[in-house]
Amino acid sequence: MLKVDVQKPVARVTLDKPDIHNALSDELIPLVTQAFTELASRDDVRVIVLAGNGKSFCAGADLNWMKRTAEYSREQNVEDARTIARMYLTIAKCPKPVIARVHGAALGGGAGLVAACDIGIAVESAQFGFTEVKLGIIPAVISPFVISRIGPGRAREYFITGERFLAAAAANIGLIQHVVAHELALDALVDSKISQILTSSPTAVAAAKELVFGVAARTLETSLDFTADAIARARASAEGQAGMKAFLERQKPPWIEKTNPK
Ligand code: COA
Repeated sequence: MLKVDVQKPVARVTLDKPDIHNALSDELIPLVTQAFTELASRDDVRVIVLAGNGKSFCAGADLNWMKRTAEYSREQNVEDARTIARMYLTIAKCPKPVIARVHGAALGGGAGLVAACDIGIAVESAQFGFTEVKLGIIPAVISPFVISRIGPGRAREYFITGERFLAAAAANIGLIQHVVAHELALDALVDSKISQILTSSPTAVAAAKELVFGVAARTLETSLDFTADAIARARASAEGQAGMKAFLERQKPPWIEKTNPK
């Protein structure tokens, strides 16, 4: 159902229910949350790739399960939705960079997974959409993650029409960052992003991710103290000191020596 493969320092989390295009069920969701929680705390993991096995990345919520939720009480329904939201939050706030490797369908909650990742890379044939309204529901739980990527204006159009769109349009609205022609190129670009991340300081990478969330949640005025504190901590950090020293002495920084000897 979920494969977690760690080839240090890269972890690959692969949704593995290809018969239903990796639709997210009440069994799969806690496994994804648990995998990201565990990987977040591992020093020997520096980047995570989220992908789907089979024809698709993820076809959103498992509609057999969604249909069954009608039998839940309101309290059960709310708690159930919170469990789903926690999965997206765990991915978004993971201190390791997360790359979405997207092919086939990335619909509903699957498009939400892409939005929760840091970098989205898709083949041009990948199909996106917030199709919930076609099913009489709404993209509620994923909306904070999606709106922070594509903005409220675009979200209004795509949430209302429920239309499906290809990778080029997804890149155009900022849901993903890169489009490639075929799956070989998809893996090559994912690998290239991994290489870039591995030459960056792990502490700085985690802090850079936090910086974006922190600034996005503040006004320009209230950002002042937040960003001043963030850079002060980064300058004084062990990796900040080691990285600047290495540059000035024309040496490799220690995180490259340690985990990326190439
Ligand atoms: N939940 C449960 N089952 C799903 C599913 C979902 N979200 N998406 C696809 N499946 C199942 C289909 O019911 C079908 O099951 P079956 O083999 O028992 O008939 C199987 O996956 C294959 O789907 P199919 O539609 O025949 O394949 P396809 O290649 O023609 O199309 C999709 C694949 C993903 C594009 C299409 O199934 C689809 O649009 N799914 C709905 C996605 C959606 O709207 N998700 C948002 C949910 S909020």
